[in-house]
Amino acid sequence: MNFLDIAKNRYSTKQYNPDEKLSTDIVQQLTQILQLSPSSINSQPWKFTIISDEKIKSEIANVSYHNLEKINQASHLVVFNVIDQVAKFEQENLSQLPEGAVNYYNQHVKPLGDAGIKNWMQHQVYLSLGFFLAAAASMGIDSTPMEGIQPEAYNNLLQHEGYTALFAVAIGRRDPEDFNQPTRKPKFRRPLEEVTATI
Ligand SMILES: Cc1cc2nc3c(=O)[nH]c(=O)nc-3n(C[C@H](O)[C@H](O)[C@H](O)COP(=O)(O)O)c2cc1C
Repeated sequence: MNFLDIAKNRYSTKQYNPDEKLSTDIVQQLTQILQLSPSSINSQPWKFTIISDEKIKSEIANVSYHNLEKINQASHLVVFNVIDQVAKFEQENLSQLPEGAVNYYNQHVKPLGDAGIKNWMQHQVYLSLGFFLAAAASMGIDSTPMEGIQPEAYNNLLQHEGYTALFAVAIGRRDPEDFNQPTRKPKFRRPLEEVTATI
């Protein structure tokens, strides 16, 4: 399938088949794909938590609002966390980057101040979301991106010192009856001529 067809067929899965688990090989591939995500100046201000343990997944599901059931049904849950302190980023990530990257950061990112730098780091993690969703779809894996989570409660459960949860993605195999799949619910997108301009 070419990527346009993959884009037409992927969708946010609302109902998973709880009996279909992803293989270790598939999950390892997806884990490496996360590691390979691109980011501005190769900043990589993230930590990805891949959860298969049913007990932990269920505890996380309980602090995920309307996403509870799909997290419980899904094979795995990936939590996308971002570094929560600028000093930590500068000491652990920036210090390992080449001079050109450091110069770019000092000239264009550092002046944004604490809130602006944290915002910039979050952008990088969101980019890895797009990369991940596309990769999963290309492998025929169903997924659901979810901002409907309680980050503080996630942080308390995951205990990743120096990181805060931003959003999560459920992955697995759809319930064949899932109402949200494009064959049952055509995709809604704003018209091409409104969202694009060809000059
Ligand atoms: C950042 C982000 C957060 C989202 N949060 C949720 C969520 O919490 N629960 C959910 O069921 N879908 C969530 N979605 C799915 C969107 O509603 C969905 O991508 C959009 O309606 C387009 O539909 P499609 O993904 O099926 O093409 C989220 C999507 C994105 C990109």
